[in-house]
Amino acid sequence: MAKTAQLRIGDQTIELPMLEGTEGERALDISRLRAETGYITMDPGYANTGSCQSSICFINGEQGILRYRGYDIEDLASRSSFLEVSFLLIYGTLPTPSQLDYFTHSIRIHTMLHEDFKALFSSLPKDAHPMAACSAAVGALATFYPDSLDPRNSRQVEISVHRMIAKLPTIAAYAYKHSFGQPFMFPRNSLEYVANFLHLMFANPCEEYEPDPVVVKAIDLLLILHADHEQNCSTSTVRLVGSSMVNLFAAISAGINALWGPRHGGANQEVIEMLAAIRDEGMTARQFVERAKSKDDTSRLMGFGHRVYKNHDPRATIIKKACDDVLAKLGVHSKLLEIAKDLEEIALKDDYFVERKLYPNVDFYSGVIYNAIGTPANMFTALFAIGRLPGWIAQWVEMHGDPDMKIGRPRQVYVGENARPFVPLDQR
Ligand code: CMC
Repeated sequence: MAKTAQLRIGDQTIELPMLEGTEGERALDISRLRAETGYITMDPGYANTGSCQSSICFINGEQGILRYRGYDIEDLASRSSFLEVSFLLIYGTLPTPSQLDYFTHSIRIHTMLHEDFKALFSSLPKDAHPMAACSAAVGALATFYPDSLDPRNSRQVEISVHRMIAKLPTIAAYAYKHSFGQPFMFPRNSLEYVANFLHLMFANPCEEYEPDPVVVKAIDLLLILHADHEQNCSTSTVRLVGSSMVNLFAAISAGINALWGPRHGGANQEVIEMLAAIRDEGMTARQFVERAKSKDDTSRLMGFGHRVYKNHDPRATIIKKACDDVLAKLGVHSKLLEIAKDLEEIALKDDYFVERKLYPNVDFYSGVIYNAIGTPANMFTALFAIGRLPGWIAQWVEMHGDPDMKIGRPRQVYVGENARPFVPLDQR
């Protein structure tokens, strides 16, 4: 029999079913709370609220563990590829060779955008942020594929999923090309996923571009590390928007906007801008750390802190090492990397950061790699979006497969005016 907890409110006692996940997380099921007691719960920021049961991603923030579908992130990072991880997240198992061939082939043949997308990009200002352009273009995909938008039709879902994964790199690269007036490149479907993205970004019709295998490997690794992170802000957005039964493209477009914010994926751009400002203003790392601690200053040490990780972020550990390796292989000496390491060393010994359990997160070193390979800072978060895409899709698919799925609709505690008479304009 399911275990229950008792909740006493005044002289009423109710039983709350207790749930336990496969890794031992415990939850109280309060879904009958309002119906039985008239009360709701308050949890600003949802720090204590489980919005779903999910089999996709497991995080233990105290021990610094991250697993996709049961596989440790360290194993996936060192032994897998981004498309293999995408398959794993979406379909639940590691693919067989023929499944991976089919998946990769299907992604490859959908990389091209409808020619009319060029007009969509051309209508945007040159300095449009790529995240705004990506979100607009992904939303616009729904206008080009009106016959495959039904989230209840498995064939339509499959084609939309493959189109989405195939086209986001093309969309992101077009946003970049538009920003400085270079012609859009056609995808080269003979190239692997990441190499094709680099070609779309850095080739032009007048010059050959051969993606450097070191860079391809580094980006593939970064995409794997970003691929899912359970119910974070953008993923919860994709689920919430998707729960209205809207199509996949609309839900992903909303997720891209959520990711853009500087407290979430936008932090990777902010980190590199922070490092560059420290360098350019001749500040010491110590001086900046003092600023980030001060209550009179709004600066935060960007790339530090996490809602869930309170020990270390395993992604940051992998990226820090990759950063050293990639820069050494490319022969790049980065002053920004030196500053980042100084900041980390000082912050990790500082009582303010120690007491609040603030450690480097996934965004702290990723920008140094993107920067070293020539990616402009305002494209960093678009790369995060390409990485997070299979996670968003997997969570959207899982939600639609849940027989108990309901539209997401939180409650509130109203604290405004009580009913009052309307005063006509001439009497105010
Ligand atoms: N620098 C300085 N102080 C910080 C920082 C930071 N990076 N992060 C948190 N704090 C302080 C904060 O001021 C607060 O102090 P106090 O208790 O004195 O008021 C305390 O630590 C708790 O912060 P919080 O904002 O209540 O914590 P949270 O769990 O709601 O926020 C966070 C988590 C990631 C939004 C926050 O740590 C932050 O803003 N970090 C910088 C932005 C960043 O790197 N974001 C990327 C997150 S990882 C990738 C992703 O999810 O996209």
